Amino acid sequence: MNVIEQRGGAVDEQIDLPAIGTRKRYYALMQVIRNRVTVRKFDAEFVVPEDHYNLILDAARHAPSGANVQPWHYIVIREQEVKQKITDYFVAEQRFRAKAKMKFPTPDYRGLATAPGFIVVCSDMRWVEAFPVFRGRTAEASDLDRMYRENAERILLQSVAASTMSAHLAAAALGYCVWWVTAIGQEKAQSAMRPILGIPEEISVLDIFLFGPPAQDPYKRWKKSVSDIANHDRFDPEHFLTMDQIDDWISTRRHKVMFRDSSRID
Ligand SMILES: Cc1cc2nc3c(=O)[nH]c(=O)nc-3n(C[C@H](O)[C@H](O)[C@H](O)COP(=O)(O)O)c2cc1C
Repeated sequence: MNVIEQRGGAVDEQIDLPAIGTRKRYYALMQVIRNRVTVRKFDAEFVVPEDHYNLILDAARHAPSGANVQPWHYIVIREQEVKQKITDYFVAEQRFRAKAKMKFPTPDYRGLATAPGFIVVCSDMRWVEAFPVFRGRTAEASDLDRMYRENAERILLQSVAASTMSAHLAAAALGYCVWWVTAIGQEKAQSAMRPILGIPEEISVLDIFLFGPPAQDPYKRWKKSVSDIANHDRFDPEHFLTMDQIDDWISTRRHKVMFRDSSRID
């Protein structure tokens, strides 16, 4: 396999796996994973060096995807005016949610405009056609087709999330704090965003990826333990929550796990 120089100096390497069980790389990776933290306000004066965008998107493009369709597009926003337009939309959405009494602890979206790194993550939903669906035979198999298409959409969204996560980890590895914002999936938001970004009708904005040096001290949020999430051979009934327990969690804990460090949850 050739070594191909990419723009920005990133390199398409040969496959280079360590001996099974080697911890050095694992710990290096975990250092990045553990220290990827969300902040919602950045040092707006900082200018992202151009090669950092390439380094980050080089990580994004190596992600796995269903049928290897790589259904993602990344729009790097450098113009402050565009950042501000998107921010204004979010602040309006934040107000709408407060008025509509959605009771979701919506963050302060004014922080979006402070992000030196601002990347809009898009996907072309037509790529569901590349997954197992009844192509061109919808009338013949409509119920079945709907079921397969629902799963195809999940395949597509998981693919873009895998790529996005690689980008977030690359940013964290470069020392940045990050912010993953999805509050723009609703059709109303899509329509508001398309003309600002020149996005064709067929392309959807899935999320916004922000990064930069933090304006406030970053903190580590609560994470479940391995034993909380691991099941062995069968689903552990201890892990099952009733809907009442989930409702209780939402009303008593959600705002804490979103906005406090892990030592201040109880
Ligand atoms: C799929 C996804 C959607 C998210 N959407 C939003 C969002 O719309 N607004 C926001 O402020 N944070 C959003 N976040 C950030 C989470 O709130 C944050 O990751 C979580 O509180 C855990 O904190 P941590 O990233 O520091 O571990 C999202 C994160 C993910 C992975």
